Amino acid sequence: MKKEAKKVVLAYSGGLDTSVAVKWLLENKAEEVITVVIDVGQKEENLEAIRDKALKIGASQSFIKDAKKEFVENYVWKALKANASYEFGYPLATAIARPLIAKLVNEVAQEVGADALAHGCTGKGNDQVRFELAWKALNPNAKIIAPAREWGAELLDRNKAIDYAQKHNIPISLTKKSPYSIDLNAWGKSIECGILEDPWVEAPEDAFSLTKPIKDTPNEPEYIEINFKQGIPTGINNKELDSLSLVEELNKIVGNHGIGRYDQIENRLVGIKSREIYEAPAATVLLRAHKELEYFVNPKDSMHFKSLIDQKYSELIYNGFWFSPLRNALDAFIEETQKKATGTIRVKLFKGNFQVVGRASENSLYNKKLASYGDEDIFDHSSAKGFINLLGLGIKTYYQK
Ligand code: ARG
Repeated sequence: MKKEAKKVVLAYSGGLDTSVAVKWLLENKAEEVITVVIDVGQKEENLEAIRDKALKIGASQSFIKDAKKEFVENYVWKALKANASYEFGYPLATAIARPLIAKLVNEVAQEVGADALAHGCTGKGNDQVRFELAWKALNPNAKIIAPAREWGAELLDRNKAIDYAQKHNIPISLTKKSPYSIDLNAWGKSIECGILEDPWVEAPEDAFSLTKPIKDTPNEPEYIEINFKQGIPTGINNKELDSLSLVEELNKIVGNHGIGRYDQIENRLVGIKSREIYEAPAATVLLRAHKELEYFVNPKDSMHFKSLIDQKYSELIYNGFWFSPLRNALDAFIEETQKKATGTIRVKLFKGNFQVVGRASENSLYNKKLASYGDEDIFDHSSAKGFINLLGLGIKTYYQK
């Protein structure tokens, strides 16, 4: 039987679904399957073993692409400048990595002359949308295959997928026996499924790995200073760090205080509400610190307007429209607001909570002489009277009548 595709490149994670997908594609769709694992900082996984596993299952070639730096510098930092988060605070770690993974998988497809692209996402989630919208933008005529959307009931059930894997000698031992579905990268971790599907049940401690339980966190607060240049974090405690080291270091420092956990019922793009647990220690503190700094150095009207831009930008990341003319346009606005965002934010970490407790910038618009109630005050108090008379003229006239 002639197959639909000659050569398909599959975005591969090493998990059960994408592993079954390698075999399923070979049986049903393609003469040749090539897998690509993208390293976006999913530290808890052995990527070489994952690459070899794909070959064992039947992939003709299997690649690992190290994209950690590109991820932080070209994706995470843009999200940070936009203060990007979704609904109750999810810092969009999974969502912001998808367009990069899609881009690199597409690059491999071009290199090997593939005639189709594939991902292992199901038909219920956001990730299928993110992959496919990215591919439509980067390779508008590409043929896209989504095995997990097509293989139907006989494989949808996790136990049936495991049976299929065993029947086809697909090693599942590598897939850590976690009761959860996990997605991890340098910006954070997303945890779903199992007991978490009951929205009343508190997430068990074994769902978390980046943040300590409060009972194990230090009994003394820790102060850290985060240095920024034009909206981008460049150091911790005045020690300069490259982008990836900074995020990794901050994940450790902040996670040690049990900060950065989220438990939310989330509105997916496809209309389903789902229960999501997230851990994102570095992202949580960086997002707050960044916003603090940009407010310190920018006038009120640009910042209040930017909150609308930030909201739109966050939705665009969540909904998979990263590669779009709208994002390019919003980036131009955001970049303009970051020009002065150079300075240091001081943060206090303690027992699952944190506060910004100090800020400093050469571009600060805070003027103590204007703000002060002490004797250095230079504010002209008499000017306020006329200001309020004009500001209130409309309501005064209304209520007089
Ligand atoms: N709900 C989140 C999102 O759509 C996380 C998805 C996580 N995926 C996973 N395999 N656990 O961005």
